[in-house]
Amino acid sequence: MRAGCSPEQEASGEKVAAAPAGAGAGSNTGSQQPAIEEQPSSEPQEESTDEASQEKQEKPNLELSPPPVLPLPGCYTHSLKLTSEQTLCQSNIQLCHPEELVGDIKDLAFIGNGSFAAVFKGLWQGAKVAIKFVVSDSLNSNSVTLRESLLGQLLSHPNVIQTYTTRCALMDDESLHAIHGATEDARRLSGDSLRFVSGDGFGDPRHKAGGGTISVSNILLQLQVKPGQYVAVVIMEYADRGTLQEAIYKRQVFRESPRWNKRIAARALFRTAREIALGMQHLHSSNILHGDLKPGNVLLTSARVDRRGFIAKLADFGLSHVAHGPIATNTWGTLRYMAPEHFSGTMSQATDVFAFGMLLWEMVTGKKPYENMTQGEVIQSVSQGLRPQWPPDCFPHLEYLGKRCTAHNSADRPSFGEIVKELEDMEVMLRELLQATRESAGMNVVAGSSSHSDPQQG
Ligand SMILES: Nc1ncnc2c1ncn2[C@@H]1O[C@H](COP(=O)(O)OP(=O)(O)OP(=O)(O)O)[C@@H](O)[C@H]1O
Ligand SMILES: [Mg+2]
Repeated sequence: MRAGCSPEQEASGEKVAAAPAGAGAGSNTGSQQPAIEEQPSSEPQEESTDEASQEKQEKPNLELSPPPVLPLPGCYTHSLKLTSEQTLCQSNIQLCHPEELVGDIKDLAFIGNGSFAAVFKGLWQGAKVAIKFVVSDSLNSNSVTLRESLLGQLLSHPNVIQTYTTRCALMDDESLHAIHGATEDARRLSGDSLRFVSGDGFGDPRHKAGGGTISVSNILLQLQVKPGQYVAVVIMEYADRGTLQEAIYKRQVFRESPRWNKRIAARALFRTAREIALGMQHLHSSNILHGDLKPGNVLLTSARVDRRGFIAKLADFGLSHVAHGPIATNTWGTLRYMAPEHFSGTMSQATDVFAFGMLLWEMVTGKKPYENMTQGEVIQSVSQGLRPQWPPDCFPHLEYLGKRCTAHNSADRPSFGEIVKELEDMEVMLRELLQATRESAGMNVVAGSSSHSDPQQG
């Protein structure tokens, strides 16, 4: 059952009566015959004279009108106009039946979980996707579920993880029972048993390599979903290269290494930071504040645009807000990335810029901000103006940008538009420096190479 449609309405077929005027008009008399079969059989089927077509134009055959296009079960399809925080409300969520939550998703395998959600990969409509499950007790304005469900769908940009569709269901006793029961039945029918291990060391040949699959029943059990809770399922683009956090710490992408020199590492940093800023510029131009920008919420997808082999995309809109200017909020992001005014409940585009400045510092240093401080000390120090030290060998323009992003006064911070431009200029500068060095050493073999060429080109 969907929101706004009572069981009585569904049983009486009132949904059909709500179809657009003209569709099957005059045939809604309780007859079960489809409108198309009510055509008079005497009418010539193949005749297409001018007169006949003229008559069709003048007197449309209502019985032939196509059936109304109804949303797919569980798909949240209507276009939203979210103009303020007040529009982030339950009435904008179209609830689906609990069994429709993942009915069309196959091969679910666990990726990881965060503070509010568990994320899986799976196959949806033939494509590899990421599926986020978010559980909450209500869909009030503070609900992460509500924000995850609604906000990602408003965004479409190459540097933002694409949300394909979302579903949300209110779980009740009966449906939880049905979901768990169906899984148990399927397991019994296939002769499968969670506990059966042959000891041969091969595993079950029906399970795919790389983690196997997990049933929706197991997911709901792991998330400890209870009757009366809401479960949202967000189906989104799968990021196959992990997070920016992993790129900084595990793969050390932005540091000099046997794989690439200091200059290439710096270009990788400028390019990645610029992609994040471009994604953020898109959010802000859509009047959305991210609210939790940090390396763990920037995902990487494979791409052959340059030698990094990935591009960066923003994810995670559970703490995002719709805002045209500064807003009062009681949601907190991740402490180490929060601007001083955010501690006292004000969020704005400038608080996202502050978080970006901290993220930039982390990319440059490969260290967690305020590593040895307690949470209380971080709040106190940041409020008093303390910021992490930039390393002495940092590109001076980058340090200048980073320091402005984390300025105490929010009005002194640049916009993402300015950040994008400055990062691009820095990369061009680095490229020209190399060109000048090569020219002075008589090494420039690239005929006609221009000092103002697009940084995407080389
Ligand atoms: N679209 C995606 N593609 C691939 N992996 C994803 C995707 N979305 C999330 N993940 C991964 O799933 C895991 C859980 O994500 P989630 O956003 O719930 O938590 P988190 O970012 O680790 O923590 P936090 O709650 O603080 O944001 C993370 O490892 C994240 O990188
Ligand atoms: Mg996250």
